[in-house]
Amino acid sequence: MPLLDDIEPLKQAALAAFQSAADLAGLEEARTSFLGANGRFTALMKQLGGLPKEERPAAGKGINAAKTELEAALASRRGELELRAAMPKEPTDFTLPGRRRVLGKLHPLTQVTEEIVRSFRKIGFVVADGPEIEDDYHCFDALNTPADHPARDSQDTFYLDTPDRRLLRTHTSSVQIRVMAKQPPPVRIIVPGRVYRRDNADATHNPTFHQVEGLYVDRGVTVSDLKGTVEFVFRDLMGPETKIRFRPHYFSYTEPSFEIDFSSALTRKMGKEWLEIAGCGMVHPQVFENVGYDPEVWTGWAFGFGIERIAMIRYGINDIRLFYQNDIRFLRQF
Ligand code: DAH
Repeated sequence: MPLLDDIEPLKQAALAAFQSAADLAGLEEARTSFLGANGRFTALMKQLGGLPKEERPAAGKGINAAKTELEAALASRRGELELRAAMPKEPTDFTLPGRRRVLGKLHPLTQVTEEIVRSFRKIGFVVADGPEIEDDYHCFDALNTPADHPARDSQDTFYLDTPDRRLLRTHTSSVQIRVMAKQPPPVRIIVPGRVYRRDNADATHNPTFHQVEGLYVDRGVTVSDLKGTVEFVFRDLMGPETKIRFRPHYFSYTEPSFEIDFSSALTRKMGKEWLEIAGCGMVHPQVFENVGYDPEVWTGWAFGFGIERIAMIRYGINDIRLFYQNDIRFLRQF
């Protein structure tokens, strides 16, 4: 029976072709030439129909067995070649020293900001946020800063070239107004954020820097609450020996207003007993009126300070511009 005799040699040829395929593309070529639609083995199967009836069962059986064997051989060779393709092309020397990836770190200002936030969270403050592009109302008017106040001078404020005369906020105090206008008292927030002023850059100034604002509104809030809170946070940040003192000052949105000085090992290291660190005061009744809080019912305090200044004192940094230059030799020290 000629067909039956053809099966074995053709199978052997196919097995040899599969085994000698050097890669997956070669294997696919071999598969097509035997088992593809026009393949040689497929052609054999097609002849089956032309056989005399009595020869068909034996031939069919032989062909099926061969085909099963071929498919198994094909799959096994494909597995080998896939594994080979996945292996590294070059030999690996496992005795080489490892390559260390340099880990990034948080910027020192981010680290200090996170520490400040952590301190305030311990005593129940939550972080609030507001836009850096502001308007006169939130940055000045609602904070009781009169139109002729020097802080509004275009010398200090970046105004945008828009018809509605928007500006880059000069302080985070604008967020006090946004938060109070949106929610009823009580309020207990801090607002870390970026601010902008038209200053020339030098060792202690930069046209953009960062502040943290704090605002606490409730019934019966007093200056001693303010003092206790500020003392707690600065001791947390600057060491348990830290002392603070309040000096009378003027801010349009607080009455009375104070400047806060602190004294610690850090200030003495800088050759000073006291260093000015923040502004604060009791929220002005007019500010409460402006946001719709009844000043006969609600009392509160607010403060604001610069994050760069805190970081500079803590780490003994003498030039604020170092924070923005992204010099890796500077950044790597924190
Ligand atoms: N906004 C002031 C500044 O930029 C800081 C400040 C002072 C914030 C007193 C306050 C405050 O909330 O009560 O210098």
